[in-house]
Amino acid sequence: MNTIIEPFRIKMTESLKIISRSQRIRALEKAHYNVFLLDAEDCCIDLLTDSGTGAMSAEQWAAMMLGDESYAGSKSWKKFEATIQNITGFKHILPTHQGRAAEGILASTRLKKGDVIPNNSHFDTTRANIEFVGSRAVDLLCAEGYDNRSEAPFKGNLCIDKLKKCIKENGADKIPFCMITVTNNTGGGQPVSMANIREVKKLLEKHGIPLIIDACRFAENAYFIKKREKNYQNKSLLEIAQEMFSYADGATMSLKKDGLVNIGGFLACNNDAWAQGFKNMLILREGFPTYGGLAGRDLEASAVGIMEALDIDYQEYRHATVMYIANALDKKNIPYVHPAGGHAIFIDAKVFLPQIPPLEYPGIGLVNALYIEGGIRGVELGSVMFGRFDEKGKETAAPLELVRLAFPRRVYTQSHFDYLLEVLAEVWHKRGAIRGYRITYQPDFLRHFTCRFKKLK
Ligand SMILES: Cc1ncc(COP(=O)(O)O)c(C=O)c1O
Repeated sequence: MNTIIEPFRIKMTESLKIISRSQRIRALEKAHYNVFLLDAEDCCIDLLTDSGTGAMSAEQWAAMMLGDESYAGSKSWKKFEATIQNITGFKHILPTHQGRAAEGILASTRLKKGDVIPNNSHFDTTRANIEFVGSRAVDLLCAEGYDNRSEAPFKGNLCIDKLKKCIKENGADKIPFCMITVTNNTGGGQPVSMANIREVKKLLEKHGIPLIIDACRFAENAYFIKKREKNYQNKSLLEIAQEMFSYADGATMSLKKDGLVNIGGFLACNNDAWAQGFKNMLILREGFPTYGGLAGRDLEASAVGIMEALDIDYQEYRHATVMYIANALDKKNIPYVHPAGGHAIFIDAKVFLPQIPPLEYPGIGLVNALYIEGGIRGVELGSVMFGRFDEKGKETAAPLELVRLAFPRRVYTQSHFDYLLEVLAEVWHKRGAIRGYRITYQPDFLRHFTCRFKKLK
């Protein structure tokens, strides 16, 4: 059969209501036009994030009942540690309550003012943790990664020439580690090839710089390597993941993605001295090293979930969902980042809404239009999230203006996606009338979460 079906059936449901258009208009006004400030129950299809929004399997729920809540050395911790070690091969595993806690511990123990951290593209929390300690986060994405129409298979690759230049300009002693994010969430959920990881490692090794993988979506990345890279077709996703991690010296991970859980993360490394520093900070911020910021039952669910993410049937289904949307958008000529990434569709808001200049935030215009039209909640990944201020305080735009529609894992069915496509087509039809926004309040860090907007005429 050609139809790829959901490799599960549904045993528990959660009701979904659609509030009226006028109610949505009022809700958005009350949220100061920032969808992060909406009540979730006012969102019909919530594609704000794929982070922590997935549905757990019966096996995960069953495992939770085995949670050992001992403060130190619990059985659940041992299971968690052994599972993560089997996948990553790292000697030291430190559980954290989510990804940014791992990033915070890494940045606060290893970085100082003036250090430089390269990455293909830093995620917003990674960048914020690095900048918070006075270091500089630099994005060294390959050129194809910035070309939304390029069909290159690995647009998440880190550019080797840019990395060479970065090391030459700053000196290796200013680069305590380099990161690589798989898949590259900020740049459209694009994968990184094994060849690129290997090459990055080779160059870093020459300069004595460790490599840290931001592993949030490592299983989706492994799937792309299997499908797109020579010599990996016959390898299992686990084998591919093991090879990916074998080139790294450590990893941060939010288990809320490819851990298939609602909360969790970890920090891992091989270096004993690094691990000692991490542990001290972990105890201060998160908890004892055998539970971090997690309950024993969370550790159990993660140990099962992370292996389920490496199941090929699950990955085939997940990719088929993304391709279903991508193919429908192609038919309507709605612009999105090509090829479709692993966990989301990234609509190109610059092309969708050419009438809105970048600093009037076309992404926010589109996100809000999708909410008003059909109660769809997406997220802007553009100048609000990634715009910068120069030394004189002048705001500069981000290179891309994207709207991410992220797909929670194992949550929505095909009819939900058909509804989404109908809403997208309607907004596309009415796009000429959509206007930009101005920011009326913003905090110093991670402004997109809480800033407020005013609609421009
Ligand atoms: C690539 C990447 N890194 C780090 C994080 C941070 O993880 P968390 O939200 O669990 O703190 C995210 C979350 O979306 C992410 O996508």
